[in-house]
Order: sequence, then structure tokens, then C-alpha cells
Amino acid sequence: DAMRSFIEGLPKTELHLHIEGTLEPELLFALAQRNKIALPYDSVESLRAAYAFTDLQSFLDLYYAGANVLRTEQDFYDMTAAYIAQARADQVRHAEIFFDPQTHTERGIAIEVVFAGIACALRQARDDHGFTSVMIMSFLRHLSEEDAFVTLEQALPLRKDYADLWTGIGLDSSERGNPPEKFQRVFARCRELGFRVVAHAGEEGPAAYVSDALDLLQVERVDHGVCSEEDPALIERLIALRMPLTVCPLSNLKLCVVDDMAQHNLARLLRAGVAVTVNSDDPAYFGGYMNANYLAVASALALSREEIVQLARNGIAASFISVTGKKKLE
Ligand code: ADE
Ligand code: ZN
Repeated sequence: DAMRSFIEGLPKTELHLHIEGTLEPELLFALAQRNKIALPYDSVESLRAAYAFTDLQSFLDLYYAGANVLRTEQDFYDMTAAYIAQARADQVRHAEIFFDPQTHTERGIAIEVVFAGIACALRQARDDHGFTSVMIMSFLRHLSEEDAFVTLEQALPLRKDYADLWTGIGLDSSERGNPPEKFQRVFARCRELGFRVVAHAGEEGPAAYVSDALDLLQVERVDHGVCSEEDPALIERLIALRMPLTVCPLSNLKLCVVDDMAQHNLARLLRAGVAVTVNSDDPAYFGGYMNANYLAVASALALSREEIVQLARNGIAASFISVTGKKKLE
């Protein structure tokens, strides 16, 4: 219909995307075969059928298990190139991509392999198609702050080689019980080093984790943030700051953050003046890339074309690209 073609044709930016969450079952099986890794599933279909989640942790368990097939630079390249093809088909022009080195270094994969494979695909997309991107290295919050510091030390020698891409630091994985304060020191260090910082907060954790991400981590964007509504004063603060929330509608549905897309607070937050954006999070696991996320909210929440355009504009404004880069995307 008309709304579908409008969304499909709209140029978009993606600000909340875990590259490991773009590993489709087909590629996962192909990499397992290439690397001679046995899988506990006998087919692509049976793996996909296992993607029935009840909360964030039930997803993370499968997501980390899936990442085990990623061994070589070529594997990281193939995964990233496949994501870019999907994103370009959805008219995504710019993507800011989370990657979790600890998921890989814990298994004995060198951090250099992770950076090199992802960056190679991103640079090729920039050179061949003008598709721009930013790499956001994320710390796993279920691990210790000490572990995050070790990862930062491992990555810093690579900074000069990836200066064109790696400008961000993020925080993801199991939210409840792992509050922002746990990572206050490492985030202070990252800011001192000149990184742009973001953190997942208020996905299924309390609104207090969102205020703490602002106060203690001094984030420039909040990833998810949908639980902020529990605290009306926080909502006023997010509006006053024009603090971007990178909302992921299909993720929230699949992880039972909302029971029904019609109950999603994205439209209410948008209409209240919060700088919400639409993103796909882990599209291979949650059933859709960018256009599917836009379409799901447009239809369930009866968004107008103006509101769809506002969501896309919010994404450009909240991105980490230069002012001239933003003008080009407008
Ligand atoms: N890692 C990958 N996807 C995530 C999500 N939605 N929340 C927290 N950590 C994640
Ligand atoms: Zn996420």
C-alpha cells in the first residue's frame, strides 16, 4: 500500500544495530560448516524455530551461542557484508554498529580479527556505494568493569588503524542487576579518550538506570529507554535535553517488553516531544530489518507520514556524523 512504499523509499539511518545480531540462520549454518563446528540443530528451520523468546536473557543465551561460529576475519566480513546488503535494500544510508569484542576474545578469537573483518566490509560499502558507518565497541555488562578495562586496553592500539570508523563506546547485554554505576570508571576513561558514549538503559531495567546512564555515564544517546515512562520527571528531562532514544520496536515485541505492538509507547513519546528513533537491534533474531520496524509501528500506532518523517529526521540528528554529513542525509 501507499504507506509501505513511502517507508520503503524514505532514506534512513540506523543507530542501534548489533552486528552479531544480523547473523541469519542460513549464514550461521554455512559458517558452522566452513569452520567444522557441530550445531545442536539439524536444520536452518529448526534453529529459526528456537527463536521464541520470553525476555532479554532467553535471547542473549541463543545470541551468544550463535556467535560461536564466527572464527575468522572472513566470517566477520561475510556477516557485515550481508547486513549492509539488507540495509541498503531498505534505503538505509548510514549505520552506527555495535560489536561485542568480549563475546569473541573470551573464545580465543583475537580482537584484531573482529575489527578487521567488520571494518573491511564497512569501508567497501563506503567506497562502492557511499554507505557510511560508525563502529561502536560495546562492553558486556554481565562481565566485570575490570574485564571492560582489559578490552579497552586490547583495542586502543587499533584506534589509529580504524580512526575512520571506530568513534563510539556502548554498553549492552543483561541489564537487570548490572546498573550503569558498575561501569562508571571505564566510561569516564573512554570519554577522556574522546569517544562518543552510549548505553543500553531502560530496555527491561528500571527508569533509574536511564537517569544513571545520563548522570553517571554521561551518555549522548540512550539505547532503548522505553522504560523511562515509569518516571514522568525523567521524560521531561529527556525532552528538555533532546536526548535521543534508539527504540527497537520488533525487538521489544519479541523480547516481551511489550505484549502487543499497539501498546508500544513510541508514538506517545514522539508526540510528547522525545527524540525517539526507529532501529532494528538484532534483525536476524527479531524478524525484520529497518523497513519492517518502521512498518510495524506505522501500522500498529497509526503514525502519519509527517511522524514517519520526524522519526527519520530524529535519526539523522542523533547520529554521530558531521554537520555537513547530516545536511547531505536530510
Ligand atoms: N545485545 C544484543 N542485543 C541486545 C539487546 N537488545 N539488549 C541488550 N544487549 C543486547
Ligand atoms: Zn541492543
